[in-house]
Amino acid sequence: MLDAPVAPVDPFTTVIRRIGEPGTAAALRGAGPLVRADAPAGGPVWIVTDGVLARQALGDERLVKDPAFAPASWDRWAAGLEPTAAEQLSLTTLDGPAHAALRKAHAPLFSARRMQGSADRIAAIARELLADGPADLMADFTTRFPLTVICELLGVPADRVDQAVAACTRMGDYGPEEFAAVLAAFADLATAALENGGGAAVELRERVPEGTTDEQLHYLLFGLIFASQITTDAALGFLVARALGAPSVDPSNDLVRDVLRRHPPAPFTLWRFNRTEVELGGVVLPERAPVLVDIAGINAAGDDLTFGAGPHYCIGAQLALLELRAVADVLATDHPHARLAVPYADLRRVDRGMQGSRLAELPVLLRG
Ligand code: HEM
Repeated sequence: MLDAPVAPVDPFTTVIRRIGEPGTAAALRGAGPLVRADAPAGGPVWIVTDGVLARQALGDERLVKDPAFAPASWDRWAAGLEPTAAEQLSLTTLDGPAHAALRKAHAPLFSARRMQGSADRIAAIARELLADGPADLMADFTTRFPLTVICELLGVPADRVDQAVAACTRMGDYGPEEFAAVLAAFADLATAALENGGGAAVELRERVPEGTTDEQLHYLLFGLIFASQITTDAALGFLVARALGAPSVDPSNDLVRDVLRRHPPAPFTLWRFNRTEVELGGVVLPERAPVLVDIAGINAAGDDLTFGAGPHYCIGAQLALLELRAVADVLATDHPHARLAVPYADLRRVDRGMQGSRLAELPVLLRG
């Protein structure tokens, strides 16, 4: 095949839809296992919509994450790219042995066993933040809860959570000055955690490869804080909406896994680029071709790639599952009469392309 079929829809534009309305995933998948779309920063992007091909791509070392291999014509800011691997140490841009070494440094901090040890504290935080009964959970709770948890785990003092909320909220305004200012705010949080001691930030400092600078360590901590918020925040909205508003779910299903599968917070993987020409699903992709995996479409077909696959599989998956289960449990035990203040079907979600989908608002009556 010379090239992949062209996507019949633009998956990258921001669209507001009702919670149950289909997005673009089915149309993309219907076009073929590998489809071509227009990238937000210009030029083509190839999107993998088939689970088997996706796992193959995610395990192919010729598809790298380093933005240094992005199409030369891309504007870094328009494309929402991270600094290159040479500019900044990051799990999300390194590959191969350097990535493996960094993963090894992080892995014990977020292991299932380690996270289980924090389960009671995570539930207590959910209980505390839900006790006051905020009217719209998307207005503060869904952002504050994962940030309160990650700050505590890393050792960021509790009085800095507002700063973390503000910094994450500003991550949407993307430009060189804005990014530098937001990174400085995250660096402040990282410094506070390292000075405070007692949390995983200090442990990470001891475990990172020799020669890692403070600035690099701050960036790694920024990555953890932001990755834990943007994803869990969105997932919490869909989870609470389903728990309170659509109780007719098959009780044999794991509610959290089912909500994540239907509304994956990362509907696409992050960018990958071809280091060399690569044949994928019968199509030869040129060097520097940008490739994405359509997690939402693959999930809708019955597979589950919510947390990715291969060497970049989500390092926070256990933490995220624990957080989501804690909120579902606290709602059931502490707020048995809670209900949505509007019909479930009227809830609206904002589909923001690669930024993922998030409910516009989630009005609840926690006391029923
Ligand atoms: C429901 C919540 C979450 C979802 C759906 C999610 C999803 C994902 C996905 C799909 C990837 C792989 C991206 C790719 O291959 O391009 C990933 C990677 C990552 N996630 Fe998560 N994530 C969640 C929560 C978290 C949390 C709580 C943390 C905090 C520790 C976290 C930290 C990371 C990091 C650091 C990576 C990069 C790993 C690497 O490249 O080696 N995530 N996540």
